Amino acid sequence: MPFTVFVTRHLTPEAEEKLNAFCDVEYWSEETPPPYEVLMEKTRTIDGLVCLLTDPIDKQLIDQAKSLKVISQVAVGVDNIDLDAATARNIPVGHTPDLLTDATADLAFALILAAARRLGEAIDYAREGHWQTWGLTTLLGEDVHSATLGIIGMGRIGKAVAKRARGFNMDIFYFSRSRVPKVESELGVTHVSLPELLEKSDIISLHVPLNEETEGLIGAPQFEMMKQHAILVNTARGAVIDTDALVAALKSGQIGYAALDVTDPEPLPHTHELYRLPNAIIVPHIGSATRAARNNIALLAVDNLIAGLKGMPLPKAVVRGK
Ligand code: DGY
Repeated sequence: MPFTVFVTRHLTPEAEEKLNAFCDVEYWSEETPPPYEVLMEKTRTIDGLVCLLTDPIDKQLIDQAKSLKVISQVAVGVDNIDLDAATARNIPVGHTPDLLTDATADLAFALILAAARRLGEAIDYAREGHWQTWGLTTLLGEDVHSATLGIIGMGRIGKAVAKRARGFNMDIFYFSRSRVPKVESELGVTHVSLPELLEKSDIISLHVPLNEETEGLIGAPQFEMMKQHAILVNTARGAVIDTDALVAALKSGQIGYAALDVTDPEPLPHTHELYRLPNAIIVPHIGSATRAARNNIALLAVDNLIAGLKGMPLPKAVVRGK
């Protein structure tokens, strides 16, 4: 009997070809995620699950999936999966680090530049017919070159952002739970406390995973410490920022700009106030959305899944299983 696998969305053609050759696969073919009840029903008897960051893989679901041998997430972040429940049942959990690092760092930098140079507003200005002449003080933004950048979280993506910032001659500070001396010497970045980073930085970029420690890390008290022209960029997870406090800080001019690839809630409802603020840019969680990166992470997710079904160590695991 071949293994049975449920995949919560279509993958890339190359990844699907590889997966289909190995097992019996059912794909959820809607654009939006399977509703929770469907996910429960589909996972009850399967051997393997390939899921996305939008699927809540909680304890209840893991415990009722009696024959589940492996969970393979097509993303690096796994905050949607109850890792303790998977560990308790010895189910390995795979994820897809490394292959999306540069694509995500590129987008973080695109957002830094877009916010600092007010690209969203400038595009609308030209498109809507306001461009009458060259204006000495029209659409003035902030310098990115030589600015002070504060990176919160110095993992793979934080480091890749620091590398790009070096090319822009920026002063780079970082805050993370533990210091990374190698990155400090290689890239000339300085470790500081979170309050010091918030006070010193012109631009702040978030690169921490979402967990109990980082949920709501940036809220009203943190906005109070930031410079008035500070730009806050989030390509990590929406819930690292307190959304209501962000709206208040942007409206009152306590900070200058926010550029968000991720939001809380996500997706942000179309009627949300943030979309109407001139000093906010929002894009729909596209950090890793390049053709190459998405194909590579889909292929790695398939490799993780196949290894798990065979009872072998996953190439990239957050939970190893037995
Ligand atoms: C991830 O992998 O966690 C990103 O947020 C999506 O690419």
